[in-house]
Amino acid sequence: MSNGRDEYADGGDSQNGDDHQLRVSKIRSGTVIDHVRGGQALNVLAILGIDGSEGEELSVGMNVPSDRLARKDIVKVEGRELSQDEVDVLSLIAPDATINIVRDYEVIEKHRVDRPEIVEDVLSCPNAGCITTGDEPVTSQFEVLDDGVRCAYCGTIVREEIAALIDT
Ligand code: CTP
Ligand code: ZN
Repeated sequence: MSNGRDEYADGGDSQNGDDHQLRVSKIRSGTVIDHVRGGQALNVLAILGIDGSEGEELSVGMNVPSDRLARKDIVKVEGRELSQDEVDVLSLIAPDATINIVRDYEVIEKHRVDRPEIVEDVLSCPNAGCITTGDEPVTSQFEVLDDGVRCAYCGTIVREEIAALIDT
């Protein structure tokens, strides 16, 4: 945004100058994960392995107004750029997210997340009887559906709480 301020709301419907507008500062260098589905910001942080305990500088906005989504979350992490693997997993819980790479206060790169067809070795199957959860050296593999993920080995479909399956 070019007005020198920073609003959580998207440009279109934000009320610039409104004293009730929620604001957070711009970041110097790092990543802004914008247009995250409302309520998913904490899962985004979990995927990135960030809980603030190591002094990471971050801002989180949850369920703020947006014109693209009814409500959105936004996560700003100072001093951190994301790997493709991290972005792939983020896409499962935040399919409309925009990843903005910021350097010296400027957005130097902006891209939408891209949902991969398959995610390998990032989620663990919730089915205790699945070959991927036993002692066999089988790497987990999930097909990405429109509304969830399906284990390529046992067919278990997970639609909610995908973040809980992420291998840590
Ligand atoms: N941002 C930030 N720190 C910066 C630059 C940008 O925190 N130094 C944030 C903005 O607040 C915004 C996001 O990064 O949430 C994207 O910035 P920008 O592209 O300037 O905003 P928009 O044009 O509104 O983005 P979009 O079109 O993707 O909604
Ligand atoms: Zn399985």
